[in-house]
Amino acid sequence: MAIVYHEAARTFHLYNGQISYIIEVMPNGMLKNVYYGKRIHDREDYSYQGNDGFLMHGVCSVDGGLALQHQRQEYPAPGIGDFRESAFLLRQENGSHISRFVYSYHTIYEGKRPLEHLPATYVEEKREATSIDIVLYDNVTDTELILTYTIYEDLAVITRSARFLQKGEEKVVLEKALSACVDFPDKDFEMVHLSGAWGRERQIKIRKLEEGTQSIDSIRGVSGAEHNPFVALKRLSTTEFTGEVYGFSFVYSGNFLAKVEVTPHEITRVILGINPYNFAWPLKKGDSFQTPEVVMVYSEEGLNGMSRIFHKLYASRLVRGEWRDRERPILINNWEATYFDFDEEKILSIAEKAKEAGIELFVLDDGWYGERNIDDRSLGDWYPNPKKLPHGVSGLSEKVEALGLKFGIWIEPEMTNKNSDLYRAHPDWIISTPDRYESMCRTQHILDYSRPEVVDYIFGLLDKLITESKISYVKWDMNRYMSEAYSRTATADKQGMVMHKHILGVYSLYERLIRKHPKILFESCASGGARFDPGMLFYAPQTWCSDNTDAAERLKIQYGTSLVYPLRSMGAHVSASPNHQVNRVTSIETRANVAFFGAFGYELDLNKLSEEELKTVKEQIAFYKKNRRLFQFGEFLRIRSPFEGNVTSWIVTGPEKKEAIAAYYQVLNVANGPWIKVKLAGLDPDLFYRVSYEDKVYEMYGTEIMQIGIPVDRKEFTKKGDFASLLFLITAKES
Ligand code: GLA
Repeated sequence: MAIVYHEAARTFHLYNGQISYIIEVMPNGMLKNVYYGKRIHDREDYSYQGNDGFLMHGVCSVDGGLALQHQRQEYPAPGIGDFRESAFLLRQENGSHISRFVYSYHTIYEGKRPLEHLPATYVEEKREATSIDIVLYDNVTDTELILTYTIYEDLAVITRSARFLQKGEEKVVLEKALSACVDFPDKDFEMVHLSGAWGRERQIKIRKLEEGTQSIDSIRGVSGAEHNPFVALKRLSTTEFTGEVYGFSFVYSGNFLAKVEVTPHEITRVILGINPYNFAWPLKKGDSFQTPEVVMVYSEEGLNGMSRIFHKLYASRLVRGEWRDRERPILINNWEATYFDFDEEKILSIAEKAKEAGIELFVLDDGWYGERNIDDRSLGDWYPNPKKLPHGVSGLSEKVEALGLKFGIWIEPEMTNKNSDLYRAHPDWIISTPDRYESMCRTQHILDYSRPEVVDYIFGLLDKLITESKISYVKWDMNRYMSEAYSRTATADKQGMVMHKHILGVYSLYERLIRKHPKILFESCASGGARFDPGMLFYAPQTWCSDNTDAAERLKIQYGTSLVYPLRSMGAHVSASPNHQVNRVTSIETRANVAFFGAFGYELDLNKLSEEELKTVKEQIAFYKKNRRLFQFGEFLRIRSPFEGNVTSWIVTGPEKKEAIAAYYQVLNVANGPWIKVKLAGLDPDLFYRVSYEDKVYEMYGTEIMQIGIPVDRKEFTKKGDFASLLFLITAKES
């Protein structure tokens, strides 16, 4: 068992070969956070460590001597002397917010239980993980609090969540229920997070911790493009390859808070969960509230070490269904090729060309339904526009399949426009507040998925669409944030449930569609990458990374995304040049050299390419097919960061490091620059490799490739101009 309980000292030790996490029940029954980090020896009793802090001026004591405001804790309570961010807030009928949960009992079990109605990591066999439920109890409200921890056997991963269960007669209201808190005994960290905006999602931000609070959050109703629900603490000296880092990733797609608080005594609190903004969950006798899950990863092998663990866990124990382990198809999407201006003939002409080039899946994007010729109408009217598609989606899908391609379709199920049949029939189905202005975003409104009848209706339409046509892939979009959050049917005391219930409604629709149509590959999308989160990956194995398809910009977006998310979850397409978002001209080679490191596809009208470019596209597709397993299932390492200079490089390695593909990108050209030696990483130092790029071939040991670097002729390279790139194919030689 990877979790032991030492009765005499009332200490829990969660450990595997790599990490230890130690919790102690303090004399007053509250839970103390003793240690989290690299594996240490197990012993009966760590209480010689004593408590953190002592009583002096300005310190409130509980239970005759405990300075809670300094004490490292597992799930800190509000208002009883710890003045930092609390993990929860429970309001009693008398208006009090004070509660005190103390240890009651615990259960240790093999495996990991699913979270009801919520996405979460899982195990396939019980021996993969051990879990513990620590049950705490507040006797005044007669409420139970169950803290659940799981430690994976072979990965430096601990997951956490919390559940409140109201046993008593009193009607309480949970006004805040975060998922995890870890208090570290020092502040010698930098906080790493992924922030940005539309078109420049998940840029890496690093800042040194100081006393006070620093947080990222969303109150937008979705995780958002502005901040990803992820934060890491790394040591100041930690690099991509060496040093300690603690990663925290929140498996949820709605409002979140990730806060790091440093006290003047240099204790660092990391706390994550659903944002308390507009959250109030009433609990009467028998009701419970389950928080989503936080995944905690520890590595002493730098940021790459952390990412490797996230990639492995998320690709194999978060993503589900048959596409989890299947190679993803090369697709072509018509959005940037046609926008709303298409008909069946035009679509088929793109599909024909795509087939000729070797593409496997055609995706029909926005504009196929209702009267959707412009983005201010028809969302929710999920039936084909006969003017554009005289044979319907089913007819088109059959024709595309007859060409030898699979067919996929775009939908945006959570939305409607006021100019739609759906809205005209159900004006009270949108999220909006009575007597208040209804903010618009892309002229659309959010359907109130906290209401099951709304979810049922949309399920009916989409199920019909999928059943009647030959659909192998669905791109599920979501193009606005939530404002004026209010449900027209919920009573006043239930309005604080709406934002979370809406997300549960989104999850339930996904779950129903997946169960009914398990063969479909889902790709989630939200104005590009505004909902690239682990919650979505539980339902949709891929996410469209960003609407920004410019190769140079994508270096940053994909590099940042890879901090947490595996390559095969990142939708990455070659689009037209000049690029539609930044008007930049890049070569078709560089565009593909960036998009290869993802779930690869095209998003342009192949009919508009020159013969030469088309030939290159065919070669790219053949190349990707040949190396798809490596790109999608290999181990990815970042080598040089686009956030630190003009050059980016990364590598993906295959089983036993016998093959690898590395890339080197230079954003702006350099006159008379330094000699180029491309030093790689992640190879076997002792293997003798064949290294090739363009017309060059070298034979080098792993040590040479990693220590000296692959020589590149600067004069030749300079001829490529700006946005230049090289791909290195590396294979181990037999002897
Ligand atoms: C969003 C998506 C795009 C495209 C459009 C269609 O912006 O991110 O990829 O599907 O919607 O309206």
